[in-house]
Amino acid sequence: MSTFRLIQVSDTHLSRSHAYFQDNWDVFVDLMKEEMPDMVLITGDLCINGPKQPDDFVFAREQMDRLSVPWRAIPGNHDAGETPPDTRLGKPITPKGRNNWIKYFGNDFWVEDWAGWRFIGLNAQLMESGLKGEDAQIKMLEEALKTADRCPIAIASHKPLYRLGPAEKGKSLSAIWPKSRKYLMHLCDHHKVKLFMSGHLHTYRSSRHKGTRLIWAPSSAFINPSKGNWGLRMTRKLGFIRYTFEGRKFTHELVQPPLFVNYDVSNWQKQFGSTTSLPPRPLDRHAAG
Ligand SMILES: [Fe+2]
Ligand SMILES: [Fe+2]
Repeated sequence: MSTFRLIQVSDTHLSRSHAYFQDNWDVFVDLMKEEMPDMVLITGDLCINGPKQPDDFVFAREQMDRLSVPWRAIPGNHDAGETPPDTRLGKPITPKGRNNWIKYFGNDFWVEDWAGWRFIGLNAQLMESGLKGEDAQIKMLEEALKTADRCPIAIASHKPLYRLGPAEKGKSLSAIWPKSRKYLMHLCDHHKVKLFMSGHLHTYRSSRHKGTRLIWAPSSAFINPSKGNWGLRMTRKLGFIRYTFEGRKFTHELVQPPLFVNYDVSNWQKQFGSTTSLPPRPLDRHAAG
């Protein structure tokens, strides 16, 4: 029976001009050289501020290319933009943002078959955006599920299906919105999707909805413990997820590398409101001069 080793890393928030979170990424790149997984999956927020700083895309791509193994990525709200109107940061997803993503990272939604599993990557921010591409994504998803031909299925999305529970109301920017959630959950149930991987919340949690395991991957960049735990059992620590797929089964574990620093941005967020408003901190700031 073949074994497929997948690493999910998320919310790297990389930038050449705002290089606050470069250190843990450097550690991660070194770790992947030792571990040599079959695939690294990056579940969004590769950039710190892609909608405003196009060089974040260029830089994030350069950083992904440092990985010594194959990788695949899906966008987060800090890459091509947030589901409109983005009441929090005012950076809605735009055709230009999507084009930037596609230019540097390939299609923003995709299907891949790895080791007998079907993996489907989604652009969570495109759902209910009204943008061209929204319907095409749903069509691709439906088709990929229909033609999986008894392959076990895993879905990756930057945002989780829900934060507190499947019946939560309102269009929170923390999770996929209710209308899309309802439809995705119906599809997961109907097609017996085994795994739904997400990022965005910068916290680790493993839970289950019917037959689907829901994994929230932590960020490799920063945590914000002042947000509390919302009454849930979860871990606000930096790290990544290590999966092993074997036949129709999989296992996972949270990895917290000893050399990762748990950057707590509570203080910065109090001062600046968001990591997208932090002052420049260029990568080459230590260069002679
Ligand atoms: Fe993030
Ligand atoms: Fe995010």
